[in-house]
Amino acid sequence: MYFYTFQKTLYMNNIRSYLEENKQRFLDELIELLKIPSISADSAYKNDVIKTAEFVANSLSKAGCDVVEICKTEGHPIVYGEKIIDPHLPTVLVYGHYDVQPPDPLELWDSPPFEPIIKVTETHPEGAIFARGACDDKGQFYMHVKALEYMTTKNELPCNVKFMIEGEEEIGSNSLAGFVKNNQDKLANDVILISDTGMIAKDIPSITTGLRGLSYVEVEVTGPNRDLHSGLYGGAVANPINVLTKMIASLHDKNNHITIPGFYKHVEELSKAERDEMAKAPFSLDDYKNALDIDAVYGEEGYTTNERNSIRPTLDVNGIWGGYTGEGAKTVIASKAYAKISMRLVPNQDWEDITQLFKTHFENIAPKGVKVKVTPHHGGQGYVTPIDNIGYKAAAKAYEATFGKTPIPQRSGGSIPIVSLFEKELKSKTILMGFGLNSDAIHSPNEHYGIFNYYKGIETIPLFFEYFTELSK
Ligand code: BES
Ligand code: MN
Ligand code: MN
Repeated sequence: MYFYTFQKTLYMNNIRSYLEENKQRFLDELIELLKIPSISADSAYKNDVIKTAEFVANSLSKAGCDVVEICKTEGHPIVYGEKIIDPHLPTVLVYGHYDVQPPDPLELWDSPPFEPIIKVTETHPEGAIFARGACDDKGQFYMHVKALEYMTTKNELPCNVKFMIEGEEEIGSNSLAGFVKNNQDKLANDVILISDTGMIAKDIPSITTGLRGLSYVEVEVTGPNRDLHSGLYGGAVANPINVLTKMIASLHDKNNHITIPGFYKHVEELSKAERDEMAKAPFSLDDYKNALDIDAVYGEEGYTTNERNSIRPTLDVNGIWGGYTGEGAKTVIASKAYAKISMRLVPNQDWEDITQLFKTHFENIAPKGVKVKVTPHHGGQGYVTPIDNIGYKAAAKAYEATFGKTPIPQRSGGSIPIVSLFEKELKSKTILMGFGLNSDAIHSPNEHYGIFNYYKGIETIPLFFEYFTELSK
């Protein structure tokens, strides 16, 4: 027993000293990666997306992968890498994404999104790196590349490892779904490891045990066949913007429950014991409100803030437009109005069913005098993982070693739709070891990632490999 503890300490010291020696280079490399604008949604950046895939492939080769491939798809390429040391040993599959969200609105960034800079913030006194993708997900998946570098350089890799880093996560992982279905042998693994989520606070490690599903739709309401003078026609024909906003408002009742018939039918209800357990996670409502400059929270009656944003389904307008939005006033009734709507789903809600329920309901509530068109975009299933498996246990032990605290299991409100497909097609559990903070502004202007979090991740990941291999015996 004593010997065992001694060995672990030695192992950790090795990681710490390797990190210390290579700190600056680890940061410089991430900065280079962040400079390439791999915006998957915008075809103008197609070449940059390819350049990023090449950067990732190169970094995997340098970190010790024996096989590295840039797999072409109908969309953006998938980077695959592997180092198989012994087929009898377990295999960890690391997933991440090298694509990023569009950076707009650009004017709200304090520094250009693809010119990374390090700044000190209140939350990150050690400094944080500001750039689009810093936290979501370049900074987080790159921790795994550096952890691999450490393990191969110091001959500490305890098992086999595969990497699959895609370029379409932010637009729905369309190509990856086919890739996974067609490459089950190539991707065979014992556990999937992802850093693309968050933790409660820098000193409160947590492991994400749930992700919400998603259904994303666009709606179009058409009234008269052309824009009209709002004096000559106003009051006498349906105004598509008035109608659309009314229809959207009716999607929630006075208790903020969603009114779509059947919407809650399969929603998994948590037991009192499970909800009590959740409520133990550290959370300050005042800090939450202060951080957002709001005087009150808002949401579904009967649920706490943390329940509302994790275990409950939601419906939100993400964008709405139509009519005149230019300078000054123009008296007009627009012919059309539009909105983009997302529904976050919880386990057992099927995203395709929900999309259909939405479509039927939205068409049903349209008043005479307008035409309604509902176009589904993308979606995916939610995910929950139990904590009584060796993957979770290995992750918990790794955090205990590097943070000195047992991590808290936490269900997140965000979505990584491909995770449920991994479980279905590859039959393995996913462990979500996220190191981002909610305040890191992912998808927003001034996205950043704490340097502390980056290094802490690099330190914790090799321990996961070590403990997972040990617990697999
Ligand atoms: N990494 C995020 C998801 C996330 C962030 C989960 C923080 C938990 C905590 C991912 O890149 C993302 O943004 N997902 C999208 C869905 C996707 C289909 C566009 C999302 O959640 O909106
Ligand atoms: Mn992400
Ligand atoms: Mn994202």
